[in-house]
Amino acid sequence: MVIASAGAANSQHPPGGPLFTCKDISLDLGGREILKEISLQVASGEVLGVIGPNGAGKTSLFEVLCGRFPAKSGTVTFKGQDVSALPLYQRARIGIGRTYQTPVVPDELTVEEVFKAARQAYKPYLNRWHVLWAMRLVRFSVDPDLPAAQLDTLDRRKLLLSCLIMRRPPLLLMDEPAAGLINSEVDEFDDLIRILAKELNVAIVIVEHRIELLDTIADRVMVMDAGEKISEGDLAMVLQDPRVRAAYFEDVH
Ligand SMILES: Nc1ncnc2c1ncn2[C@@H]1O[C@H](COP(=O)(O)OP(=O)(O)OP(=O)(O)O)[C@@H](O)[C@H]1O
Ligand SMILES: [Mg+2]
Repeated sequence: MVIASAGAANSQHPPGGPLFTCKDISLDLGGREILKEISLQVASGEVLGVIGPNGAGKTSLFEVLCGRFPAKSGTVTFKGQDVSALPLYQRARIGIGRTYQTPVVPDELTVEEVFKAARQAYKPYLNRWHVLWAMRLVRFSVDPDLPAAQLDTLDRRKLLLSCLIMRRPPLLLMDEPAAGLINSEVDEFDDLIRILAKELNVAIVIVEHRIELLDTIADRVMVMDAGEKISEGDLAMVLQDPRVRAAYFEDVH
């Protein structure tokens, strides 16, 4: 009951089409070519993993997809509409959710105040049922009067994710959600991502270094190196790809 009433239902997009795509995205930063003609697509309920050595451009790609960095060229579409010209806040409003490598929480606010700010940032305002629904889903249970700055990494990630999913975004771009977590905590996130995708039908693009996590949750994986997409497909298949092996081999030596 609470689940059914929590937030707007995912809107429809053209039947059979992917929920979210980008095509030929290129990006320059500081006079350097950071991304070269990257394309991807993800459907509702699908988990697309993104891997690649440090500095490959994974986070930069997310910055373009969520509207924080303007691309030099290329297009981004969501629910069949070209959203390439929309700024960050408008893409967030239409349901492109984004989590960050480092879980930064407002130091000066308590957990309850963070939730209140997140509820009131959504129009129309979300109510406390939405918060309770999201907290239960991510198994986030702390004293609401606790300053957010006192939370450990797992609870910071849960707080930020709760604030995001109570809006019921149809798409989540997750940048290394398991960074800084110990193995048992990673298992919890693994379950959570599976629930979001397979039970709530959220499309998820996840950057992750932990292959064992992707092995259990990703339907498909794409590999980036030096700003390019060098391979895509089933995880076991891409790990055998000579270009992927070369990229990782060169990265560690
Ligand atoms: N604001 C910026 N200005 C200039 N160069 C940048 C900027 N942000 C990132 N870069 C450069 O872009 C390249 C890609 O960085 P990015 O952070 O996207 O890689 P990544 O694949 O996410 O790496 P990691 O696995 O370490 O998180 C790097 O060479 C980085 O130095
Ligand atoms: Mg990164």
